[in-house]
Amino acid sequence: MIKYFSIIMLTSANINPSLQKIESEIIKIFKSIDKDVFDMEKNPFNFMGKAARAKFTLLLGDTLGVKRRLAQEIAICAELIHTASLLHDDCIDDSSLRRGLKTINSKMGPNTAILLGDLIVSFAFDCAMKINPETAQTLVGSVKKMTEGALLEENLKYKKISRAQYDKIISLKTASIFNWCAIAVCSASDKIELIGPCSLIAKSVGSGFQIVDDALDFESENGSLDKNILKDITAGKITLPLILAMNDKACGNKIKDKVAKLQNENSANIHIALEIAETVKTGQFTDEARKTAKSMIDDIAPAMDELPSNTAKDDLKNFIYSLINRTS
Ligand code: FPP
Ligand code: MG
Repeated sequence: MIKYFSIIMLTSANINPSLQKIESEIIKIFKSIDKDVFDMEKNPFNFMGKAARAKFTLLLGDTLGVKRRLAQEIAICAELIHTASLLHDDCIDDSSLRRGLKTINSKMGPNTAILLGDLIVSFAFDCAMKINPETAQTLVGSVKKMTEGALLEENLKYKKISRAQYDKIISLKTASIFNWCAIAVCSASDKIELIGPCSLIAKSVGSGFQIVDDALDFESENGSLDKNILKDITAGKITLPLILAMNDKACGNKIKDKVAKLQNENSANIHIALEIAETVKTGQFTDEARKTAKSMIDDIAPAMDELPSNTAKDDLKNFIYSLINRTS
């Protein structure tokens, strides 16, 4: 448990007690489920994962002088929505491993995983309503965008998509919940005039985070991540490293042929996926994708400068760079 302590953090503002509180509140919510509906004890479940959204919320909240209790409530909503979306995503990708545990879809079937995800969404809205109706309203908007992003990605599977189409997918499916965290936390502060820079920072962090996630899907060895590797490509999801490879004069056609071959197979062919991954890695397209994420984060410096200068902001910056440089 508490894997989230291992990532990062040499911070001056200690967010670990808040992370513990967030996790214990989420566990409490899950324990309130009728055992006949979903038996948590029989189906061990990891509630938090990396807690990237929670950490971002707490550190931005500290920077803006928001009370921890309020930032924690916002973080709980974000982590619940994220967990629900992963339950659905694992059904879409037919994944068997998530956060180091067997997925609910692989153990109990996709129906249970989808419905449990729906239940968790309802918990998140309950929590958001307790903050205030406006926060719940903006959360609806974020879930709408996440779902649009997942649908867009679904529609474009196996296609040769453009960088602009990819940017739209990740901005919707991943950056929108980071953006919601920023809007909710800024609205809870007495610095509402900073909503523009906060939102810009959050969108870049969300998109940068997803680009690194997509690079890791190619870079990682089996067993080195707490989820399945090569899941994007075997599920037909075309991500930035692959777009860069497909656009490359030297290997573009070879890659496109292999992606078409993958689509024509009845079941995901891991050998073709491994060949694609090898070409993507040796062509250094994952490195190029990572550079894109890094420059996205470098570009938020002027927005960062608009936030109050304090130690929490230094922690926030360090945290953002550790997310972008992560290797697992
Ligand atoms: C993981 O992407 C998934 C997302 C970032 C969002 C998926 C969104 C939905 C399924 C729709 C919204 C649904 C709800 C219930 C809010 P990934 O496959 O790139 O990441 P992975 O490598 O961790 O699987
Ligand atoms: Mg996935």
